[in-house]
Amino acid sequence: MNLQIIDHPVVRHHLTQLRDRDTPPELFRTLVGRLTNLLVFRATEGLELRDCQVQTPMAAYQGQELKSVIGLVPILRAGLGMIDPVLSLLPMAQVWHLGLYRDEATAQPVEYYSKLRPGRPVDLAMVLDPMLATGGSAVLAYETLKRWGVPHIKLLSIISAPEGIDRLQRQCPDLDVYVCAVDQGLNEQNFIVPGLGDAGDRIFNTVGVD
Ligand code: PRP
Repeated sequence: MNLQIIDHPVVRHHLTQLRDRDTPPELFRTLVGRLTNLLVFRATEGLELRDCQVQTPMAAYQGQELKSVIGLVPILRAGLGMIDPVLSLLPMAQVWHLGLYRDEATAQPVEYYSKLRPGRPVDLAMVLDPMLATGGSAVLAYETLKRWGVPHIKLLSIISAPEGIDRLQRQCPDLDVYVCAVDQGLNEQNFIVPGLGDAGDRIFNTVGVD
C-alpha cells in the first residue's frame, strides 16, 4: 500500500474548521468539497495520457487527453459529499455507488447497495470516503472492486486513524491511499480521535437524530 499524506497549510486551515464541532452542516459540506479538491489534485498526478490533435484558431496542435476510464466509487453516505468536486475536475468519470454502513455493535462493515455491472470494469477506481477508521469499509470496497476486475484502485479519505492505515497496509498491497491527516487513534467506539465526529451525520444534518 502506498500512502500519501497531503500535509499543506491550506489543508490544515480547512481541516481545522472541519473538525470544529460548531461548524454547521452547510459550511461542513463546503469544507469537505475544498479538501476533496486538494486530495484529487494529488491523486490524479501521473494519470496516463494519449496523444490527440485539436485545431486552435491559428494552427493544428498535438496535445494529450486522459486515457484511463475512471470510476468514482463514493461510499454511502458520507462519500456522496465528495462526488461533485471530483466530477468538476473529471467530468468524464463514471460514478459507481457503494452502500456500506458500519454496524455499531461490531464495527464490521455491512454492504447494502452495490450495482457494479459484470463485464468491463473501469481502468482506475477512486474510492471516496471522508473517514478511514478501522479500515473495515475500505477493505470491503477494495475487495469488491478487485472482484470486479479493476486493475488500479485509489482511496481518497480526509481523515484517517493509524489502525485503519495499518490494516490497509496488511490487506491491500497495491492500493494507493491519499489522506489529509492521520489522527491519534480510535476510541472504544472505534471513532477517530480527535477526528471530526460522524462525517455522514454532519454532511446530512442528522447529528443526534435516530
Ligand atoms: C463511516 C465512514 C466510513 C466508515 C469508516 O461511515 O464514512 O464509511 O464509517 O469506518 P471503518 O474504517 O471503521 O470501516 P458510517 O458507517 O458511519 O456510515 P454513514 O456514512 O452512512 O454515516
